[in-house]
Amino acid sequence: MCGIIGYIGPEEPVSLVLEALSRLEYRGYDSAGVAYFDREAKVDVVRASGKLSNLAALCQGRAGLPGPAIGHIRWATHGAPTEENAHPHRSGPIVVVHNGIIENDRELRKSLSSEGFSFSSETDTEVVAHLVHRHYRTTGSLPEAVRLALREIAGSYALAVLCEERPGELVGVRRGAPLLLGEGENAYFLASDVPAFLKWTRKMMPLPPDVIAAIGPDGLALLPVDGSPPLVPLFEEVPWDPVAAEKGHYRHFMEKEIFEGPRAIMDTLEGRIAPGHGRVMLSELARLGPSPPELVFVACGTSYHAALLGRQFIESLSDIPVRVEIASEFRYRPLRIRKGAWVVGITQSGETADTLGALDHARREGYLTLAVTNVPGSSITREASATLLTRAGPEIGVASTKAFVAQITAVWLLALHLARRTALREEEGSKKALEILLKSPARLEGFLGALDLGTIDGLAEKVAASRFVIFIGRGLDYPLAIEGALKLKEITYRPADGYPGGELKHGPIALIEPGVLVVAPLVDPDLSAKEWSNIREVEARGGTVLTIASPETAPVLPAYPLPATEGWEGVFFATAILQLLSYRTAVLMGNDVDQPRNLAKSVTVE
Ligand code: AGP
Repeated sequence: MCGIIGYIGPEEPVSLVLEALSRLEYRGYDSAGVAYFDREAKVDVVRASGKLSNLAALCQGRAGLPGPAIGHIRWATHGAPTEENAHPHRSGPIVVVHNGIIENDRELRKSLSSEGFSFSSETDTEVVAHLVHRHYRTTGSLPEAVRLALREIAGSYALAVLCEERPGELVGVRRGAPLLLGEGENAYFLASDVPAFLKWTRKMMPLPPDVIAAIGPDGLALLPVDGSPPLVPLFEEVPWDPVAAEKGHYRHFMEKEIFEGPRAIMDTLEGRIAPGHGRVMLSELARLGPSPPELVFVACGTSYHAALLGRQFIESLSDIPVRVEIASEFRYRPLRIRKGAWVVGITQSGETADTLGALDHARREGYLTLAVTNVPGSSITREASATLLTRAGPEIGVASTKAFVAQITAVWLLALHLARRTALREEEGSKKALEILLKSPARLEGFLGALDLGTIDGLAEKVAASRFVIFIGRGLDYPLAIEGALKLKEITYRPADGYPGGELKHGPIALIEPGVLVVAPLVDPDLSAKEWSNIREVEARGGTVLTIASPETAPVLPAYPLPATEGWEGVFFATAILQLLSYRTAVLMGNDVDQPRNLAKSVTVE
């Protein structure tokens, strides 16, 4: 939700900021802006509503002096997506970009207006610019002015601030919204996410909350807002390849990322199987101690669907009861879970406010928390008791694809880890499940290499021609069905919903009529026969059903045939087909696949 960038270094800043913003565009695309020192050493602020390309057009021919520059990409919360509301916001010499929400914006506006500050936007950010300006007037120090302004602000923020009177300085600070520091050759970066500066450096450190990063002629100082002694910067190397954040020969990031599924599985498995023992070893979980009496997953969207699969994996390999909760609902309910339970937050970005809030709720009540996330150094990794990283690499497409595949891998591993540690372990079942998992990257790779795109396009035409699409599934196929429906809604805007197959007859079957399509993944070896009964019920009422199934789960030729599958591996195959079905439908409809309307990749507001 909104992306910010700050840069100070020898490169020409306008083109650098635009390029960095293009790596953050997945975070919002309502407006964009840049501020830099022009050839007269004055700060030029350029802003445009709409996508980054509009800003890039306005910046044609502009070049700045080497020095600090800031940029912003907006997902609107306060105020319409207009140019006036676009960041950076300026007050006197102070220029600010912000990600987050200032909760006491109204009160501050009132008092600042009474002091003579005038507002030119409806955004909450403008109060920050005025507050810093007010304190800069009295202190003459940029870091100090920011520090004093923060005392008056309630809410969440990641800020990058520059001052026309301090051409060698840049300041950043955060609370409740992400901000990373990057260290390059004689250069520093501030950014909402790693891909923004990956082209220039892999050296990164997450900025701790309430610590001002003050970059000036003497380098970087980390100054806690409460006045305690400066912190020592500790940069680490991000294990991401810069080309992972490029589209390569693919038309869209989403397409590229679907085809990166096998690599996401392989990298997530890497180093987690004890050599020679054929056992899963998640050393990251050592801090959590022995297996829990109960496990509660909390997550949102696609990550919630991975958690639903996780429940089935864990419950079938161990005697641990598992609950799966929508994070935004869980966080405001009293905790009624067993003492010693683990609360596991699954989140691609590691920044989802609802998931962070849910985990915090559990942590405050004394529960052990585990983060399953794709982003090293993200907020959740700092807040959870332990972290299990998925290793899908940077995911840029707003619709999550390879990260979901990596999450499935992680919860599969978690199930095997817990199976090994419980009395009820079914040695044979676990052994087989591990064997299948280890073969999955190669099997999925082979499957994707032999795809029948003609068939998928034929199905996409049917989806595009339908008014409403119902996805159904039982057992393992239920999370896949609701994930299939979510993906389709996100990028095609086609009304769609997912139901457990058995629920259809309790209401949704009334929707079946010409123009309504039913999509059914069938990879659960134990429940596919039952699911076929549900399919027959739809067909008997004149409904059209598209099935995605392998020979052992399909009594008749399915709409998209999968190869013969073993155990749970069909989950990966069906996921790829469901993702591609949405992708190809969206392309057919001419939609902007990577930046669907109204969405943002990281949802850092409630
Ligand atoms: C997935 O396609 C969506 N963009 C969305 O549902 C996403 O999964 C959800 O917002 C949770 O994000 P997270 O995994 O980063 O927490």
